[in-house]
Amino acid sequence: MAKNVLTTSAGAPVADDNNSISVGARGPLTYDNHYLFEKLAHFNRERIPERVVHARGTAAHGTFTVTKSLKDVTIANFLQEAGQQTDVFLRFSTVGGGQDSSDYARDPRGFSVKFYTKEGNWDMVGNNTPVFFLNDPIKFPDFIHSQKKDARTNLPNPANAFEFWANHPQSLHQMTILMSDRGIPASYRHVHGFSSHTLSFYNAKGERFWCKWHFKTNQGIKNLTNEEAVKMPANGAQKDLVEAIDRGDFPSWRVEVQIMTEEEAKNYHINPFDLTKVWPYADFPVIEIGKLELNKNVNNYFAETEQAAFAPSNFVPGINASPDKMLQARLLAYQDAHRYRVGANVNQIPINAPKCIVNHYQRDGAFAGMGCPVGHGSGNASYGSQAATVNASNFFPNDRASEGAPVPAPHVAVPPMPILEDAWIKPYSQDDEDYASQAGNLFRIMNDSQKAQLFGNIAGGLSTTNPSIQARMLAQFAKADPAYAQGVKNAIAAMK
Ligand code: HEM
Repeated sequence: MAKNVLTTSAGAPVADDNNSISVGARGPLTYDNHYLFEKLAHFNRERIPERVVHARGTAAHGTFTVTKSLKDVTIANFLQEAGQQTDVFLRFSTVGGGQDSSDYARDPRGFSVKFYTKEGNWDMVGNNTPVFFLNDPIKFPDFIHSQKKDARTNLPNPANAFEFWANHPQSLHQMTILMSDRGIPASYRHVHGFSSHTLSFYNAKGERFWCKWHFKTNQGIKNLTNEEAVKMPANGAQKDLVEAIDRGDFPSWRVEVQIMTEEEAKNYHINPFDLTKVWPYADFPVIEIGKLELNKNVNNYFAETEQAAFAPSNFVPGINASPDKMLQARLLAYQDAHRYRVGANVNQIPINAPKCIVNHYQRDGAFAGMGCPVGHGSGNASYGSQAATVNASNFFPNDRASEGAPVPAPHVAVPPMPILEDAWIKPYSQDDEDYASQAGNLFRIMNDSQKAQLFGNIAGGLSTTNPSIQARMLAQFAKADPAYAQGVKNAIAAMK
């Protein structure tokens, strides 16, 4: 095979890649070192901002296969028939640490799936937990500040986390999960995934259904204790996933949904849009609808995993949002983060580009035309893996539909949603919600060993806080179950 010639980024052959041009063997460099300057300048720009949360991650490509049609409840094109397959890209992550932190933090695991459907990309941006710490997005930056490194010392500070939780009883359920034996997954292959939020389906009759998505690991749940976790290499979970896929041991997940009608939601005793709560399976059983398998590693970590941009607002016809306040804020936050972190044309990068035709009237911007096989930037916005060659118009409405100018598709419209009668616009406190019952239910199904781990894990951090924080946390635990509070109290006492 003929050798490939090394070139500049503009394609010109490079004569020497080992020696800069200098004035004599021992002299300074000259100004005509443009190839050196190109290398250094590009190197200076190799990094993009890391994600403000979920910075550390690992991803792989795979396939989603439908095993049960959902056509009764959704027009989603990729969910119509058993056997239908859709390409996916799944990124796992930890939440609080930077890119070079450990894979084995006591932290939720992100579980983001991009479904490349024929009607656009659906991004399911979830976690390995069915609930979250908050139910009002206005608290998200405060919460994350309390979990990340201390602003002064740049060191982890569990007392900050407990100070936040002492002031926010809505975190109790998720905090109980985090401090339980499930708080440090042994690998990414051994976690479940959840939409956590309530999303919606709508069908051809215009009926809406509320739904939650669950991805149950076929590898089984496997966790580490604190003692086991500190002995693990920082990159262990990344290595585990890459090596499993390389040897053909493809990890997979059972895909399930819970479905609630609009009528059921009105009368249900739990607010179905409160992200701090689950829908008990006894009330809303899970329905298995598919299988997700990861079967191909990335070729280029930066181009694929790092530049991947998952947005909860990336819906497809038949799948949409719900009134969950947290979800509503996420519909804005992620697209905004992507414009900052990757750029205005983030969706043209191959890993994010849909595998269907994209036609719109948005134009230009930095790097317009990236990964775009046809005509973008010349008055044509089509891209995606099957981009059409249209060069019709850059404004809408126009008179050029017959020449290929795109037109809206009213048949995919989301059914209108009534607002609550007499709804008033104002900030609503959710302080009166019941944040203790589900945390207590979770505590009561733990066996003795799991309870002991929960007590010890909480005591480790809580013992570093002041008496006021401890008292407020113990009061929260007591509300969930008196034995929960007593166990933590004993564990703190045992540490003294
Ligand atoms: C108001 C609440 C929230 C806000 C404002 C928020 C904001 C963000 C932001 C800005 C990013 C970085 C995005 C990027 O740079 O690509 C991110 C990443 C992420 N968030 Fe959230 N988040 C919120 C709640 C949640 C919840 C409830 C979940 C899970 C149910 C979640 C799961 C994730 C995951 C998995 C990622 C990583 C995505 C990836 O793999 O690239 N977030 N979040």
